[in-house]
Amino acid sequence: MATARSDQVRFPPGFVWGTATAAYQIEGAGPPGARGPSIWDTFAARPGRTADGDNGDVACDHYHRYPEDLQLLHALGVGAYRFSVSWARLQHAGRGPLNQRGIDFYSRIVDGLLDRGIEPWVTLYHWDLPQPVEDAGGWPARGTALRFADFAAGVHHFLADRVKRFITLNEPWCSAFLGYASGLHAPGRTEPAAAIRATHHLLLGHGLALEAMRSIAPAEIGITLNLAPTAAATGHPDDIETARRVDGLHNRLYLDPLLRGHYPADVVEDLGSITKFGFVADGDLGVIHQPIDFLGVNYYAPQTVYGTPDAPPVEPPSTHLGLTRLGFRQTERRTSMGWSVEGAGLTRVLTRLARDYPPIPLYITENGAAYEDEPAGGQVLDHDRIDYLDEHLRAAHDAIAAGVDLRGYFLWSLLDNFEWAEGYRKRFGLVFVDYATQERVPKLSAKFYRDVILANGLRS
Ligand code: NOJ
Repeated sequence: MATARSDQVRFPPGFVWGTATAAYQIEGAGPPGARGPSIWDTFAARPGRTADGDNGDVACDHYHRYPEDLQLLHALGVGAYRFSVSWARLQHAGRGPLNQRGIDFYSRIVDGLLDRGIEPWVTLYHWDLPQPVEDAGGWPARGTALRFADFAAGVHHFLADRVKRFITLNEPWCSAFLGYASGLHAPGRTEPAAAIRATHHLLLGHGLALEAMRSIAPAEIGITLNLAPTAAATGHPDDIETARRVDGLHNRLYLDPLLRGHYPADVVEDLGSITKFGFVADGDLGVIHQPIDFLGVNYYAPQTVYGTPDAPPVEPPSTHLGLTRLGFRQTERRTSMGWSVEGAGLTRVLTRLARDYPPIPLYITENGAAYEDEPAGGQVLDHDRIDYLDEHLRAAHDAIAAGVDLRGYFLWSLLDNFEWAEGYRKRFGLVFVDYATQERVPKLSAKFYRDVILANGLRS
């Protein structure tokens, strides 16, 4: 149940309301030859890597159905829409001049948004690395950072006249740790040292992209991190130490270089037996630490951890590098991903940023939940999602009331879509997608969100 409170919750004037999607999760490949292979095509084609062997070949067929999806956005009344451009669509081989058919596709989307008074927020990298770039070493290789900056400059060049907000990377922790440590995501490698190198080259790619884009035209540019407030389950010293390590790997390993200009010393020490940070060249941290215009925060669930000797052993391959024991205490309420539901975690993550880091405008660039949605009589009555959203919007408002400079909220997601290794079984959308017919059915939560946007807050 949502936290029952009777006071009205109003967001500041100008607060940005949006939804978010990502290219590989919704577009589908489109006509033959319209995009090059990405690591997700390769990964999904390997047996047992995604649920039901699902892949992004068709997804929501947004490539063809985008006009209908733009109408859905319009009906919701959002002021902004965050979507990603597919690197493999714009550079089939991961390098060279941008592909004209790809440019035309994203131009149509951008123009369609602007025609409807919706501001485009473009994510440059949402996990679909061109396969040839992975074949050349992927993110653990320094050259990938250079390739990415070149791609970012190309996109900026053709969109800068119409797009004023860019996000360089989406959730680099996932790209590095799920992609190269646990192997649960593409490219499916299980090489802990490579995951740490990937982290550095993702951050370097972000910094080089910033530099390249700023030299072309002005825009507001930020990065999106998946941050999880991490706490010890008890006051036991083992739990406290485990919380420090998990927070270090998950949150500070990204926040500190970006916002403070150095890697956290304790994390570098924790990781010492896996790799030394010899891949950090002179000047890299200056590139990574350049000013950004905003930080995007993706929040889904808190992490409450224990690491006492009776905590479960950490089995390799794992994202928890160097930890030998780790348990998670879950809340009673979970989404269908099995993730704990705790809105207060969102308040904590936002207030921690404001307290521990230099001031920077914040946007929630993703928040939302998967539930077992079932259409009945042409309707999807997703009360559990509405409760989740209500609770998290109140939590966001609590952060603002506590003085946090939070400027907007993007709900994940507009549509049900390809939930990576979980395939199409997990549904995060405000709009139900019947994958057999591609029919879109707005859920009750779409009406709820439209009312939130109209009221710039919650009514009761
Ligand atoms: C984060 C990712 O950015 C997005 O692609 C994913 O679908 C959602 N979280 C839900 O897991």
